[in-house]
Order: sequence, then C-alpha cells, then structure tokens
Amino acid sequence: MADAVLRSVTLASAIDLDGFRRACRTLIADAVAPENISWGTQDERDGGLFLDEPMVSAGPRAADAALTVPVPPAFVALCENVVLHRAPDRFGLLYRLLWRLRREPGLRDDPLDPDRVEAERRAQAVRRDMHKMKAFVRFRAVDEVPHGDAPPGAAEAGDGPLHVAWFEPEHHIVEAIAPFFARRFTQMRWAILTPECSVRWDGTQLEFGPPARREDGLPADAGERLWLTYYQSIFNPARLKLATMQREMPQRYWRNLPEAQLIAPLAAGAAQRSTEMIAKGPTRPARRIATAPSAVAVPTEPNQTDPAQERPASLGGLRQALDRCRECPIGAHATQAVPGAGPKRARLMFVGEQPGDQEDLRGLPFVGPAGKLLDRAFAQLGWPRDATYVTNAVKHFKYELRGKRRIHKTPSQQEAAACLHWLESEIELVRPEALVALGATAARQLTGSAVAVLRQRGQWLERGDGRRVLITLHPSALLRIEPELREAAYAAWLDDLHKADALFHPGVATT
Ligand code: URA
Repeated sequence: MADAVLRSVTLASAIDLDGFRRACRTLIADAVAPENISWGTQDERDGGLFLDEPMVSAGPRAADAALTVPVPPAFVALCENVVLHRAPDRFGLLYRLLWRLRREPGLRDDPLDPDRVEAERRAQAVRRDMHKMKAFVRFRAVDEVPHGDAPPGAAEAGDGPLHVAWFEPEHHIVEAIAPFFARRFTQMRWAILTPECSVRWDGTQLEFGPPARREDGLPADAGERLWLTYYQSIFNPARLKLATMQREMPQRYWRNLPEAQLIAPLAAGAAQRSTEMIAKGPTRPARRIATAPSAVAVPTEPNQTDPAQERPASLGGLRQALDRCRECPIGAHATQAVPGAGPKRARLMFVGEQPGDQEDLRGLPFVGPAGKLLDRAFAQLGWPRDATYVTNAVKHFKYELRGKRRIHKTPSQQEAAACLHWLESEIELVRPEALVALGATAARQLTGSAVAVLRQRGQWLERGDGRRVLITLHPSALLRIEPELREAAYAAWLDDLHKADALFHPGVATT
C-alpha cells in the first residue's frame, strides 16, 4: 500500500543524478507514491523554499544500498538528460514515470503517453541547449588579467594566454558539457563563465567555480577582429535567411557572438545590395589570377576568359595558378593553396575535403592528424603512400577563429563547386585508374551528386568519365568517434579501403 505521508527529498544539487537514483530506490522500496513526494535541491532549500517542510533525507540507508530498481536502459538515458532541464518539477516527472513503468507494462510501448512525451520534450530541449553551447561559445584570448579584475574561473599567469567565454545556457548543462570543451580545446587554457557557475581548464583538469556576471566578458582580441572581417566578407546579401538564422541561432545567443553585432547592419543593407546585384545582371565567375608580366605563365587552352575551360598543362602550372585563385572567399584567408601530392601517373587518387590547419601551414595535403591515420592505413594495407596521389576537393583551408585557434569549417557547396575545376584538372593530368572519395564533400565533388556516405561506404560508384570512385569515410570522422569505438571503426574503414587493393596488388579483385 502506498505511503500517504508526504516525503520531502532534498538533492545535493540541481544536477544530482546519483542522489536522485538513490532516492528513487528508497522511495520505490517504501512504495511512496509520486503524489506524496516533494522534490527539491539544496540550493533551493538554502534559498528558503523548503525551510518549513519536514525534511526526510533520501540518502541511502544501509539496507537500501543493495536495492536496485530494474528499468529499461532508455529510461536511464532519458533521466541523464531530463535531470539537466531547468523545470523545477523534473524530478517529480521522472519519478512518476519510474513508478508507472513498474505498474503499467503497456507504458513502454506507448510513446504518446503524456508523461513520456513531456520527458522526451525536455530531454530534447537539453540536447539542443548542449548543441547550441558547443556551437556558440566564443573564446577571447586574454594575455593578462589585472589583479582583482579576474573573472571567476580565470587562472593566474601560466603557459599561453587564457581564453575566456561568456555563455548563458538555458538548462543546467555546464558540468555535463565541460568535458567536451576539455577534449576539443585540450592545448588551450580556457574558462567558460555562466550565470550559474564557471568552469576552467588549465590544460590538465577541469575546475568548477562560482557564477559569473556578463560584465566579466573581456574585450575583443585581434583574432576576433579578423573573424569579424571574414564574416563581413563572406556575407552574401542574396542568401540572407533571417528566419533560418534565428531558428539555428536563436537571438538569445546573439549578444554573446562577436559576429552578431554585424547581423543587423548587414541585414539592413541586404535588400539594397541584392537589388544592386540583380541590376548588374549575371556575371561569369571570374578567376582572379594576376596577369602582371612577372606572373608565371600558366599554359592553358586558348579560351582564357572562361575559368571552366582553362586547363593547366602540368601539375607545376596548376600549383602556381592555384595559389592565386580567389574564385571564392576562402583563398583570401588561407596561408596558401594546397595542391595534391604524388606521382604524375598514380593509379589511385585519394580525395579528401580540404586542407586542415597543418596542411595550410605546410602547403601539403594530409600531413596533420587525419594524414597520420591515412599513413597508418597505407602501412597496414601495404600501399606505399608515394605511389598514390593524395589531394583535396577544396584547395584552401576554410576555418573559423576561436580565440587564436583556427577551427576547421566545412566548405559550402558553392565554394566546393568553385574549386571543382582544379580537381578535374588534377584528374586529367594524373589520369588515375580509380579514385577514393574520403567523406561526403569529396564524394559529391567526384560524382556530381550527393552521396550518403554511411550507406554507400565500401561501394564503387562510376563517374561520368568512366572512372570508378570508392566511397568511404573521411579519416577525421574516425578521429571524432568515442575512443572506445574508434578501433572498430578504424577496422571497418580499412575494410572499405581494401576494396582498392587490386590497384596495388594486381590479381586481386576490387569488388
Ligand atoms: N583533411 C582533409 O580533408 N585534407 C587534408 O589535407 C587534411 C585534413
């Protein structure tokens, strides 16, 4: 029989999932019905909410420690997210679901049950908030924080500048998401300040601190100014979709994004600029290669005016022409163009997406972490890398500045399309028998249409010129996989690549 006495449960913090689970075990063992429980957290109690209530500790009693309450794994995952939601009744909702799951066998198969729907809606809101935080945190480098002015979480002087970001999450997600930023920005000292708490990473460990204030935000650094210039230059008035921008980047995040200050003025001028663009009439995309006499001559076919017709006659010529390419805005911000590398007559050509940070600095494709993985695969497959031609769909590094770091940004379809003729020139010059598309950008570029890489990986597709293209994942995708799954994913990737083995070891079928 259900206990009719009101129980008050006080959890240690707003995100005390362990405490919640322990309390659930006790309450289920005592058959306390959901309507007889008052849930709260220590913070709320300290704020006076529960001061007059009889408090029954929900901590584990000795006998309860051994109690377990079997629940479907999906419910555990649901709790992990819902507990982070801001709604004060989230613990009550989860406990009610748990209570009902044990009494109503049909509940598992009723996705339209109002409690289930509400819990899913909250879990979704939390996931979305995390996604937004991953996307919209902007660090600013701070060389020195004057004594006494240091924001909560700011480190004392150490190696490299401290990077500070201000963010206002909607839900209690900071602790849950902090490890993501630690993995992503391992080499950097950073602090994220929020109204609820602050978190800092000193290069080795995460530390959580007190809430911060918005005024603790710090002045724009040089990298941020460069990013603003870049944002302004890539802004295309004809493609302005404010509704989409607001959906993807709700306005509550705008005030903390450096580029947001540009949105209103750029948007205000967009209609006028679009009208001017239309009035000017269509233009052919002009390849802006210097024609000064000192420029190295690039042997081309006779039609000099149409970039799509222009074909460098050698890989050397292509390299020189590429470096001056400004057919899309990416080239202006990269250190240099990165052409392919490998023998002129390679039988197999590997095509990635675009150079990364290290490739941009060294002018060579696949020399960074993704390249190391490719090298490892080549070694295991017994393929000499110097017998293959390795290149990219897009020849300049597109990035976004976060503090002083240049973070890879996927090239748009337009940017990739502007670069296509360079790749086609490489294919014409090298004349490989077959190609390997590493990832979706390369697959689209090589086949001319979108390829569902996960579904079609390991398959050979045929290009318009009759060449076969083996579809597989980009090595960077493997580097982003959870560490415990990475080796299995790597083995599956090797299996894909092995389909091209006959090009190195003739006599073996490449199906
Ligand atoms: N990723 C790519 O797609 N290409 C490179 O050259 C490096 C990383």
